[in-house]
Amino acid sequence: MKKHFPTIAKTALVLVYLVIVAGALVRMTGSGMGCPDWPKCFGYYIPPTDLKELTWAPNRVFEKGQVIIKDETLLVAKDNFTTQTNFDVSHWEKYTKHDYAIFNPLHTWIEYINRLCGALAGMACFFMAIASFKFWKEKKRITLLSWLVVFMMGFQAWLGAKVVYSVLNPIKITVHMVMALVIVAVILYIIQVARPKLAAVTYNSAFKNVLLLSLLLTLIQVAIGTQVRQQVDQQIKNGLTESILWLQNPTITFYIHRSFSVIVLLVNVYLFTKNRKLNLGFSKMNWVLALIGIEILTGMAMAYLDFPIGSQAIHLVLASILFGIQFYMILEAQKPSSANS
Ligand code: HEM
Repeated sequence: MKKHFPTIAKTALVLVYLVIVAGALVRMTGSGMGCPDWPKCFGYYIPPTDLKELTWAPNRVFEKGQVIIKDETLLVAKDNFTTQTNFDVSHWEKYTKHDYAIFNPLHTWIEYINRLCGALAGMACFFMAIASFKFWKEKKRITLLSWLVVFMMGFQAWLGAKVVYSVLNPIKITVHMVMALVIVAVILYIIQVARPKLAAVTYNSAFKNVLLLSLLLTLIQVAIGTQVRQQVDQQIKNGLTESILWLQNPTITFYIHRSFSVIVLLVNVYLFTKNRKLNLGFSKMNWVLALIGIEILTGMAMAYLDFPIGSQAIHLVLASILFGIQFYMILEAQKPSSANS
């Protein structure tokens, strides 16, 4: 089990990223309210595909918790029963968490697949935590941090429910995203501590410090980016459904986000050249530059080409991959003795 632990942890990491991708697709397609309840979807483990399943009809069997849409409101079955010829209100109660009562099968299934990915990633993290007991005597932090990841995944699931109940409150969405990055960071740390041998990079204190600065800049840029996204969401809530209008009168936050990417780029170009000149061996630096380049391109596409399809999802997913790679490089850049203890 110990030998396979790095593979188990890497699988958990990939699945956590899969949840981030699924989340970005949910956002891109506007499927966040595809399931009005949580953890079930319209009261089912496998959600409906047809409005008929959510419509009251005579001689239909309903189970407690199953949902129907009637007069544009959600009604929940109070018990298990079979409907008679007439609608009997005593079997139903109004759904009180929110009043969003629209059924769109595509949105429902995208949101449902997102939840399945979440469950899969949760199981992988749980498996990693069980496997981590093998390290208890020798490297306690691996076990402790693995269980912390399980706890944080549980917290994410709970937060996911809060996001739905709040009908996609932007601040809750931001906390959800930040938490995903924290989970990524902790799993990367676990992978680094558990790996048998160190990466072939040369320790350089100045390079490490600038790396730390570059990670900080990325985090600031992500934080500003989430503010821009909140403003875009607000425009949509205000009724501006056409993407051409979302950034028609952008606030200062958008301009800060746009200009800040120049600072992010320059600091990383500096790191890239330093790594080459001093032959430090940080091969992931190429990826970092490529990702920043694509971030800037997708950002410009959103802003000046009216949010082409996929650009929001790519922008979000690549930002989280950029964060992961930079964080891992910082772990690699530590003094060899501290990284291997
Ligand atoms: C290093 C470069 C960049 C990084 C790391 C970055 C990161 C991010 C992040 C994390 C978000 C939030 C996404 C979400 O929560 O759904 C965001 C949103 C956004 N960013 Fe960037 N960004 C970068 C550069 C740019 C540039 C250069 C532009 C424009 C010229 C731009 C335009 C936008 C826009 C319009 C949004 C709102 C997206 C939405 O509503 O889904 N970004 N950015």
